[in-house]
Amino acid sequence: MRNAPRGFATRAIHHAYDSRKNEGALTPPLHLSATFTFETAEQGGEIFAGEREGYIYSRTNNPTNHILEARVASLEGAEAGIALASGMGAISASLWTLLAPGDEVIADKTLYGCTFSLLNHGLGKFGVTTTHIDLTDPANLEAAISERTRAVFFETPANPNMRLVDIAAIARIAHAHGALVIVDNTYSTPYITRPIELGADLVVHSATKYLNGHGDVIAGLALGRQEMIDEIRAFGLKDMTGAALSPFNAMLIARGLKTLALRMERHSENAMAVARLLEGSEAVEVVNYPGLESFPQHALARRQMRAFGGMLSLELKGGYEAGVAMMNRLRLVSRAVSLGDAETLVQHPASMTHATYTPEERAHHGISEGLVRFSVGLEDIDDILEDIRQALP
Ligand SMILES: Cc1ncc(COP(=O)(O)O)c(C=O)c1O
Repeated sequence: MRNAPRGFATRAIHHAYDSRKNEGALTPPLHLSATFTFETAEQGGEIFAGEREGYIYSRTNNPTNHILEARVASLEGAEAGIALASGMGAISASLWTLLAPGDEVIADKTLYGCTFSLLNHGLGKFGVTTTHIDLTDPANLEAAISERTRAVFFETPANPNMRLVDIAAIARIAHAHGALVIVDNTYSTPYITRPIELGADLVVHSATKYLNGHGDVIAGLALGRQEMIDEIRAFGLKDMTGAALSPFNAMLIARGLKTLALRMERHSENAMAVARLLEGSEAVEVVNYPGLESFPQHALARRQMRAFGGMLSLELKGGYEAGVAMMNRLRLVSRAVSLGDAETLVQHPASMTHATYTPEERAHHGISEGLVRFSVGLEDIDDILEDIRQALP
């Protein structure tokens, strides 16, 4: 008998699946069934009432999705997980479940554009208010939090300017005031940072990105305590959003997960080399990458991140025009939004992923008009560096 918990990569490959219960199939079967049969009417009623385990209907749960949910929950150190049709599906289903009119969300200054829009333009219509503060200094939370604050929401590193938030420090303050801590862990993945182990209550993901890793799926996940995940499933997913993940996509993500540890190591190695190239260039004003000693929060990065990840952003001395011209000169690197794929991608947040902010909001929230974001992929590093070198002014 083995008692030691298995390692990260092993759980990413094996957790929550027993081939002996599936005709010996090494790879989990794909359950495309929309609905599930009950042996008796009474048994169906008991499953509906939550008195007995079982599958009902694939909008709510599905055996293929269950493997993915349990696997990512294990990787995040969470009791339970739920898979949804997109990262925005995971964030909106979670917030619809946990918030009520009159509640306040305190969010970091910098968030992915659609999350910013959901909080400020979507939930705002239903009596939930959002206050943005600079969470890079936990003292700002202590000053702003009140009994109306139901949740503190942030990304670390934040999309697109890479600001980090000290999860343990924020969780201590939030919990002392009875607020929940929700962390969007898309950029880091549980390989690099595990927010729940640092005190967060809920982790959300765009599984479209590194968890799947191959650019062929839109998906999301939420991970946390069993009771909270059950509530998000029964309400946020089933009734409020209906954002059900196709089992086919769950299978693709479970396949991608098998190489998550390997990929995150290589993404981090490649991004570090790109960051060093950019830092050494006369044309570059600033490079935002947590692995650089010059990064203002490098000490926190060393404490909170196992590796520094594949994302970085930069500004050229020539500002917006120079950034766009550099993007247009790239030949191997693709101009595309999204991130976490094998291919290196480049995009311009102000006109693309963060166009949901007004120019004034971007200025206020620390997203400059000249910022260019790279998702450094898995190609041979010499080829990535050569392409960026020839594109720099
Ligand atoms: C940090 C972050 N969170 C959430 C999302 C939304 O995820 P999705 O596009 O899967 O809905 C994104 C998408 O880019 C993101 O970058």
